[in-house]
Amino acid sequence: MISNSARPRRLRNLKWAREMFRETRVTAGNLVYPLFVVPGKKIKKEISSMPGCFHLSADEAVVESENCRALGINAIILFGLPSKKDPLGKEAYNPKGPVPEAVRLIKRAAPDLGVITDVCLCEYTSHGHCGVVKKAPGGNFAVDNDLTVKLLVNMALAHAAAGADFVAPSDMMDNRVGAIRQALDGAGFAQTGLLSYAAKYSSAFYGPFREAALSAPQFGDRKSYQMDPANFLEALREVELDIMQGADIVMVKPALAYLDVLRAVKDRFNFPTAAYNVSGEYSMVKAAADKGLINEKAMVIEILASIKRAGADMIITYHAREAAKWLRDYGDKEEMTAMEKR
Ligand code: PBG
Repeated sequence: MISNSARPRRLRNLKWAREMFRETRVTAGNLVYPLFVVPGKKIKKEISSMPGCFHLSADEAVVESENCRALGINAIILFGLPSKKDPLGKEAYNPKGPVPEAVRLIKRAAPDLGVITDVCLCEYTSHGHCGVVKKAPGGNFAVDNDLTVKLLVNMALAHAAAGADFVAPSDMMDNRVGAIRQALDGAGFAQTGLLSYAAKYSSAFYGPFREAALSAPQFGDRKSYQMDPANFLEALREVELDIMQGADIVMVKPALAYLDVLRAVKDRFNFPTAAYNVSGEYSMVKAAADKGLINEKAMVIEILASIKRAGADMIITYHAREAAKWLRDYGDKEEMTAMEKR
């Protein structure tokens, strides 16, 4: 009779074996770094709710993009803050707005860096909702889905014309993926990809972002278009619809509180899958690190590994730049986490 009782630990005991048999490896190449682009020149202003993240003018976004590329990061995603807001979010589809401008400059400076653009009206509307708002019976309001989809199509076309590799609708209106796909194909942008925020939850984890993007709704909330955090099956339906409508990559957002959803999406659809490690997840780590409560490097690598382990090929994260630097200096070797052991 052979005793196998010590077998699992014989591999764990040895550092080289731990490294050799590690199942999940996060690399800089899996990460996407979000940039917030503002009008103007030579602007780099730290965002108070998200330490280490900045409002950048297009020229500064170019510098940041080149830094990302040098660190092995494969793509960035751009959010825009317009010079003025109105109820229809007109600046969102202005081909001269900060995002198209940044896309053009970044593509020129770093042609092999992936450029993705967020497509949503909330940063551009005066009321802060992701779509056009109309009054509904009983003093309520409703988002006009179909009119919003038309405006989102215009926005996606402006980004594609500027040279974006992927457009990423994050508004959660119905049928926007199909409408954008059709419009892109019709306008000669068949090569422009579609990253869909397919299962996007109505989440408290977006708090710091709304300060960064000045996009908090002025009244009401986003529950009528974003998903109920308690729902799992609905996420699978949302993902299926977006795949049928032509999405190239489907995303689950936020990441950490929804790793079960992410795993199920990957298993069920076997499709290119992304996860968004959102602002609240980022700022919690930063706040805890600032208080000396955690080992930040170890925690960030653990978080990113958990998201990849759950099924994400692509991870959008505000930690991308620092994580890429740590991975460059230490690989996924244990020296990194040992460095600052508490
Ligand atoms: C726009 C959008 C949001 C985020 C990404 N795109 C905010 C929201 O839906 O309220 C959140 C990103 C983050 O929290 O990091 N709709």
